[in-house]
Amino acid sequence: MKVSIYGAGRVGISVAFSLLHYGIVDELVIVDIDKNRAEGEALDLLHASAVFKYCNIYAGKPEDTKDSDFIIITAGRAQRPGETRLELLADNVRIIKEISENIVRYSKDSLVINITNPVDVLTYFIWKFSGLHSSKVFGTGTTLDTARLRALLAKHLDISPASIHAYVIGEHGDSEFIPLSNAMVGGVPLTDFCEKCEKKAGDTIPCISFEKIANEVKTAAYKIIEKKGATNLAIGAVTAKLIDSIWKNERRVWTPSVYIEDVYIGYPAVLGRKGVEKVMHLTLEKDEQEKLEYSKAVIRRAIKEIEA
Ligand code: LAC
Repeated sequence: MKVSIYGAGRVGISVAFSLLHYGIVDELVIVDIDKNRAEGEALDLLHASAVFKYCNIYAGKPEDTKDSDFIIITAGRAQRPGETRLELLADNVRIIKEISENIVRYSKDSLVINITNPVDVLTYFIWKFSGLHSSKVFGTGTTLDTARLRALLAKHLDISPASIHAYVIGEHGDSEFIPLSNAMVGGVPLTDFCEKCEKKAGDTIPCISFEKIANEVKTAAYKIIEKKGATNLAIGAVTAKLIDSIWKNERRVWTPSVYIEDVYIGYPAVLGRKGVEKVMHLTLEKDEQEKLEYSKAVIRRAIKEIEA
């Protein structure tokens, strides 16, 4: 399996390093305008591959991405402390346009996964600029936010994230939200575990403030960027897991940034070898539907800013 990663920054290399742990990659191409950086990272990764499955890892040019199974886009400016993801749009859309043209030129049969923020808006433009089918172009969307939510709930409930079926949907940004009406833990509605601090038949399930948890998820990136300058490990791990899950055709439901109506937005969808194989249809409460429509409007407004 061949993977090409545009961007040798912390995110791109975290994706690459996480991916080595799955032992599924045969060829890994790292493309970056900073050739030295790409070569150094590729060499370091090649040495690491000695303790995983051998993998031909090298720094390459766009033409070296030819016939990749996956194109992973991480290139672009990252958020500065306190900066929103949407504020990166003007700087990053130019980079995305050039990469999209290279995808058409060298690797138009790949599955394209975009991470570069603002991920929903830029995934829309990769789809637009490349002309690829919307099932072949998607973004990490709110997959990382959903992972953050499940990790926090796991901590509160002392229950594995694998048994926590709760999603974050919407823009990967300030308008994302948790449709609580759909959230289940081991077949029990998540809202049964909450604010009322009910003790169930002797259980000592702790009291959960959903507002607090939702805010922790939404502000996680800002907090991490303040402390360590960037987020990279979790998004790298999540993206590598997406690639592994797709390659194994697990057909799991994730919350990637997928094409819905006229925007790309984080929403539950089945990912398999063909890419986005099915977009689920959530039954939402009225207030949840309003939050989703608001989030779509935020993304739509940003798209129109560029298309104007
Ligand atoms: C974050 C970046 C990937 O949420 O947007 O960490």
